[in-house]
Amino acid sequence: MEILRTVSQLDELTSNAKAAGKSVGLVPTMGALHNGHMSLVERARNENDLVVVSVFVNPTQFNNPEDLRTYPRTEEADCALLRQAGVDYAFIPSVEEIYPEPDTRVFDLGPVAQVMEGPMRPGHFNGVAQIVSKLFAWSHPTRAYFGEKDFQQIAVIRRMAEIAGFNDVEIVSCPIKRADDGLALSSRNVRLTPEQRNLAPSIHRVLADSVNISKVASVSDTEKAVVSQINSIPQMKVEYFSIVNGYTMQPVADWDETDYIVGCITVYCGDVRLIDNITYRNK
Ligand code: PAF
Repeated sequence: MEILRTVSQLDELTSNAKAAGKSVGLVPTMGALHNGHMSLVERARNENDLVVVSVFVNPTQFNNPEDLRTYPRTEEADCALLRQAGVDYAFIPSVEEIYPEPDTRVFDLGPVAQVMEGPMRPGHFNGVAQIVSKLFAWSHPTRAYFGEKDFQQIAVIRRMAEIAGFNDVEIVSCPIKRADDGLALSSRNVRLTPEQRNLAPSIHRVLADSVNISKVASVSDTEKAVVSQINSIPQMKVEYFSIVNGYTMQPVADWDETDYIVGCITVYCGDVRLIDNITYRNK
C-alpha cells in the first residue's frame, strides 16, 4: 500500500487509472478504523480495480471544538489494517493540504439536511459536503462507500453529488456493522467507560424491540416508547429519536405513508454521543 499525502498525487494516480479503463473505489473515513470501516473496504475491493481509503479528521464538520480535539487519531494502526486488507492507496493529508485557504462554499443541501443532525449540529453537513466534494473531485471515484450508521449523512451526500454534478459517482450505502452485543461500531465507542460500554448495547436492543411495538402502535407512540425506555437506563439521555421517510428524511405521521421508514436516534451515553437507526419498513 502506498501512502499519499498530497492532492496532486491522488489526482494524478486516480485520473491515470480511470484513463486506463480501471474502476476506482473510494472509502472516505476519519480514521480510528474498526470492522465497520473494514467492511466498506472489503466491498470496495470486491467491486473495483483499485481502492483508495482517505483518512482525514475533517475540521469543518465539527461544530464542537472539544469533539474535534478528542477525536481518536490512530494513523499507525489504521495503516496496518489497510495494508492487511490489500488497499492500494491510503490518502492521509494534512489540514493545510486540504484547506490551503478556508472553504467558504455553502451547499444548498435542502430538506434532507434540515432535520435531526442538521439543527443539532449546525454547519456539520455543510462541512461533510465540503470534504466529500473535494475527495470526489480529486479521486475520480467510480463508486464511493458509506456506512448506514450515519443514515442521514448518506442522503446528504447524495444531494451534494446531485447539486455539485458528480452524476457518474455511484454512492454505495453499506449496512451497519455491530459488535456481538449489538452496539453499532463507531470510532467514538473507545471513549465509553467500561460501565457505559456495558450499557450502550441497550440502544440497539430497545430499537430492535420497537419493531414489534410498531406493529400495534402508532408512529408517535412508538417514538415515545423508545425514548422513555432509553431514558430510563442509567447514564443515557436521548437527544432525538425521529421516525422518518427513508428517502427524504422527513418525519412520518403514519406507517402507511411510504414504503421506506427508518427510526434515527442520537443518545448521550455519559458525554459520548452515539447514533444508531432501525428500519421499520423497506419495500
Ligand atoms: O462518516 C465519516 O466518517 C465522515 O463524515 C466522512 C464521510 C469521512 C467525511 O469526513
